[in-house]
Amino acid sequence: MTRGRLADPAQLLQWLIGDEAAFAALVADLTVGETYFLREAAQIEVLRRLVLPDLVRRRGVAPLRFWSAGCATGEEAYSLAILLEQEGIGNMATIVGTDISAVALARAGRAEYGAWSLRGVPQDVIVSAFRRQGDRYLLADRLRRQVTFGTLNLAAPDYRAVMPVLDQMDLILCRNVLIYFAAEAVEAIAARLHDLLAPGGWLLTGPSDPPLWTFAPFETVVTAGGVVYRRRAVGRPSYPSAVPDPAVDMTFPGASPAGCEDVAKLPRPEPAPPVMPPDPRPGIRALADGGQPQAALAALGQAIDRFPLDTGLHYLAAVLQIDLGRLDDAAASLRRVLYLDSTLAVAHLTLGTVLRRLGAADDARRAFRNALALCAALPDDTPVALAEGEPAARLAAAAAAQLAGTEASQ
Ligand SMILES: C[S@@+](CC[C@H](N)C(=O)[O-])C[C@H]1O[C@@H](n2cnc3c(N)ncnc32)[C@H](O)[C@@H]1O
Repeated sequence: MTRGRLADPAQLLQWLIGDEAAFAALVADLTVGETYFLREAAQIEVLRRLVLPDLVRRRGVAPLRFWSAGCATGEEAYSLAILLEQEGIGNMATIVGTDISAVALARAGRAEYGAWSLRGVPQDVIVSAFRRQGDRYLLADRLRRQVTFGTLNLAAPDYRAVMPVLDQMDLILCRNVLIYFAAEAVEAIAARLHDLLAPGGWLLTGPSDPPLWTFAPFETVVTAGGVVYRRRAVGRPSYPSAVPDPAVDMTFPGASPAGCEDVAKLPRPEPAPPVMPPDPRPGIRALADGGQPQAALAALGQAIDRFPLDTGLHYLAAVLQIDLGRLDDAAASLRRVLYLDSTLAVAHLTLGTVLRRLGAADDARRAFRNALALCAALPDDTPVALAEGEPAARLAAAAAAQLAGTEASQ
């Protein structure tokens, strides 16, 4: 209103209806366009190592259809082009980027970026994908040409009516967009995205976005890059039961992928209640401390149904299972913890002790080494996550002692 020198909101409304540029400027002011190239390294690896190989295997030479929904100034859509080129399948896909902000899309079309958009991108990728002009980075034409952009409001009821090309998508990235929507809108958008996926097509949201698996019949796979969604392929299981977990593979070459879970097979949580739910942990601990481990485990089961991605709950389950002598169950719970967060040193350490008791000395040693490496990377007095205040140095010492003990008993 200040810019238009208006005093009356009704005048503003008239102005916005009649003036596309004014409307676009308002949208640009209201939206958050924060983005950068190859955002969320763990998710990029999931694309590289899980999603793209699956699509190539299933689709053969058929052209792939990718969509960056809420693409802001284009970094995400162009990142897909870069990734495809790196994987040697650059010519196999069409990529569409959409956003509600016409101002952002105009910048996306120019494909010209500052260093901030390239933070974290390896130098060799910058050299091969961009041409430098002063302090600006111009995306190579061959990559720019692979992406087309269009305006789309994700709150609109029918995306195909606005952009017919949005159908039978093999991959949709809708990351860091749904956090801005009300719960009912998220539910409707999830159903529409599901509807626009080809059978077997993948959907990735951002780490802070709300979960979608209650809103449409997605398959879900837990990966090091978070939960990824998939439209069911007709007639057969559409992904391998144990999905290689890139971050675990890279960080801890020996870690087993056996704990990978299909979240859809876990009991479905209720849609999020409007108020923050109470933390179930104190009650569960009270049961455990009061000598009722079975009751505590039953309560934990219910809590895990509601919060299947909560590492603390899975870890507590492991501790109780150890108390009850259910070592195989405890190992499974700990592997679940590590699939949700492979950096939890205490889970590696506890897994090591369980595996040692189960007689799996090699795996136990690997787990102790992982715990040691993670603790060694922390300042000595840093409290370790889930370890009830234990500092890194003490946990490292415990892991070293266990490792030595396992080696001595060989
Ligand atoms: C934080 S950016 C995310 C960019 C990119 N997806 C990423 O993860 O780096 C959020 C984008 O969502 C867009 N957005 C917000 N509401 C939208 C809507 N109703 N329809 C389409 N896009 C919307 C914004 O304009 C903004 O560009």
